[in-house]
Amino acid sequence: MRWWSVLLPLTVASPLTTSPHIRRAKPVYWLLAGDSTTAPDGGWGDGFLATTVAPGSSGHNYGHSGATTASFRAGGDWGNVIKDVTTYKDKYDVYVTIQFGHNDQKPASGVNISQYGTNLLTFAKEVKSAGATPILLTPLTRRNFNGPKVTQNLAVERNVTISLAESNKLRWVDVNIASENYVNAIGKDAASRYNWETGDWTHLNEWGGVVFARIVSDLLVEKYADIDKVTTRNETLSALIKSGKPA
Ligand SMILES: *[C@@H]1O[C@H](CO)[C@@H](O)[C@H](O)[C@H]1NC(C)=O
Ligand SMILES: *[C@@H]1O[C@H](CO)[C@@H](O)[C@H](O)[C@H]1NC(C)=O
Ligand SMILES: *[C@@H]1O[C@H](CO)[C@@H](O)[C@H](O)[C@H]1NC(C)=O
Repeated sequence: MRWWSVLLPLTVASPLTTSPHIRRAKPVYWLLAGDSTTAPDGGWGDGFLATTVAPGSSGHNYGHSGATTASFRAGGDWGNVIKDVTTYKDKYDVYVTIQFGHNDQKPASGVNISQYGTNLLTFAKEVKSAGATPILLTPLTRRNFNGPKVTQNLAVERNVTISLAESNKLRWVDVNIASENYVNAIGKDAASRYNWETGDWTHLNEWGGVVFARIVSDLLVEKYADIDKVTTRNETLSALIKSGKPA
């Protein structure tokens, strides 16, 4: 080996990394707030942390089965999210994804649609004042087919999430439509392979979690350049999703 083949990378790299004009982006700490469609064992959250987060970045899945925007706070999960923001914000840029709706929309939840919107907005404001960046996600689609298409039964929650994010200049991505379009494109048989168990068209098995996490990640990367830098891509999987083919 020639001496300069060893030295050259060092002499090139050191002026760049020490330059005051080039700020290295901090790694990201992801905090995932949501219901069972985010939670470990049934949601996309663990797949997201395991397969889309670049080395150096990290996170925690706070998704909680059965959670509404009210119970997530009442049961203490939200307090843990905010505590983690303060713990991690010095070393990391902290992003908090917020995705609810599946349980809030049930009549027995005790959360009506205006409270749902208010609760989402309050979460987002608290994330900001704690020193992190909130990202609102419209709820993951259910995969119940009615003929050739899935039943769209989260449209109201989707609309509320988008309109409050827009009017408050918050980050948001439309997981609902992206996941619905994908499921419609691949059809019922292919979609059934993501079911957590036979007949469960809401929750995701492990591979389903990876695929739908990639849908979430691709939406974030497309919209926000800073997230691209802290994401591990899987172009093969992204291409399948984009072209509406089963993964
Ligand atoms: C939601 O519930 C609150 C509190 O009970 C009530 O003030 C409000 O009118 C309700 N809104 C809707 C849209 O039902
Ligand atoms: C959602 O909003 C769009 C346009 O803003 C509207 O056309 C649609 O009817 C709304 N859907 C529901 C279910 O509220
Ligand atoms: C990327 O996606 C492809 C297609 O779904 C999959 O087979 C492969 O295991 C994935 N690669 C990694 C490193 O996760």
